[in-house]
Amino acid sequence: MSTKAAIAVIGTGWWATQAHIPSLVKNPRVDVVLVDKNPAALKTAADNFGIDRCYTSLGEALQHNPNLKGAIVAVPHRAHYEAGKEVLANGLHLLMEKPMTVYAKEAKELVEIADAKGLQILMGYPYPYLETLREARKRVYDGLLGDIEYVTCSMTSMTIEFLRGRPEAYQPVMGYPVTGPGKNTYSDPKISGGGQGHLQITHSVSMMFHLAPGLRAQTVCAFMSNLDCKVDVCDAFAVRMANGAVATVGSTGNIGKGDGGIVEVHLHGSKGRLLVDAISGLFHMRLHNGTEEHLAPTNPPYPGEVPSQQFVEIILDGGRNFLPGKTVGLYTVEVLDAAYRSAAQEGMPVKVSSLYSA
Ligand SMILES: NC(=O)c1ccc[n+]([C@@H]2O[C@H](COP(=O)([O-])OP(=O)(O)OC[C@H]3O[C@@H](n4cnc5c(N)ncnc54)[C@H](O)[C@@H]3O)[C@@H](O)[C@H]2O)c1
Repeated sequence: MSTKAAIAVIGTGWWATQAHIPSLVKNPRVDVVLVDKNPAALKTAADNFGIDRCYTSLGEALQHNPNLKGAIVAVPHRAHYEAGKEVLANGLHLLMEKPMTVYAKEAKELVEIADAKGLQILMGYPYPYLETLREARKRVYDGLLGDIEYVTCSMTSMTIEFLRGRPEAYQPVMGYPVTGPGKNTYSDPKISGGGQGHLQITHSVSMMFHLAPGLRAQTVCAFMSNLDCKVDVCDAFAVRMANGAVATVGSTGNIGKGDGGIVEVHLHGSKGRLLVDAISGLFHMRLHNGTEEHLAPTNPPYPGEVPSQQFVEIILDGGRNFLPGKTVGLYTVEVLDAAYRSAAQEGMPVKVSSLYSA
């Protein structure tokens, strides 16, 4: 195993400068390389972190850094697919920001390229690293809930100003350390794909798939409301899984400034139920036999810097891929892709299989 690796961060905007770059520069085993097609964004990030390996394309970065082993893609949603494909085509492991892609066909193609080349795709979701989530997953994997039959995923979050194209409105509460997101990153469907679905529901749905193995969507019906935005703000989906389980998925981005909201997944199985909230850290399990377990809310900090450290361990130590693109990444995109198509047809059921023929 090598002792050191060069890793590129592609897209040096808000999330890269808040989470990935500060995390990587602290790691003595990593040489950080920056890539952004916008020279001004590149310079801002480079100056802030004192990084001199900076390029406006991955090709140029590879020319000057032939020892690159992996890349983190943190560009707006519609650009994920092309950027991810270029990373994999060049034989690099990929840490992909959420959602993996906008369309299921694209996500499947990335999975196939990675498989063919023996590369890992790690998804950038931070919540699963929280203690509460790890404890919950252990209970499910130990079989305490039995077969999962019914799930609710509910996520409310402070995003409406992003969706309106006014990210500066959150500066006082979010205190962007280097820069906030671009004005159009989450508000213009040509750049963002959708709104709350691609920006936030991707978290709660991926949590469901991470917690409950064996689930994969078969059919999705969805309604969405844009309020005063060009993209969805309030969403309600109904999902039938391939194994017969059913789920509801709901979300709104319209909560008050400074409100942490909720990211709840409530699993109901043949032997009991388990509720987790990633924001408060609450965990409650009640089995049919009367056994009860409760973890009080701890309000854990957001583990935004953990995914990139996990990525380093995968590259340098052969560490386990905790959140693979092949399952959690792809299955989440299937739900979102089907939901957007359903909502565009007033809630008509959309079969996941149709996403691959369209
Ligand atoms: N995991 C989390 O909790 C979390 C939080 C926030 C954002 N994100 C994700 O991070 C990603 C980036 O979001 P952001 O808010 O940082 O966006 P942003 O608008 O702040 O930055 C995006 C950057 O990507 C650059 N870019 C665009 N297309 C590019 C391309 N093809 N090649 C190279 N650079 C390109 C832009 O110039 C810009 O500097 C999104 O996928 C978002 O969902 C994740």
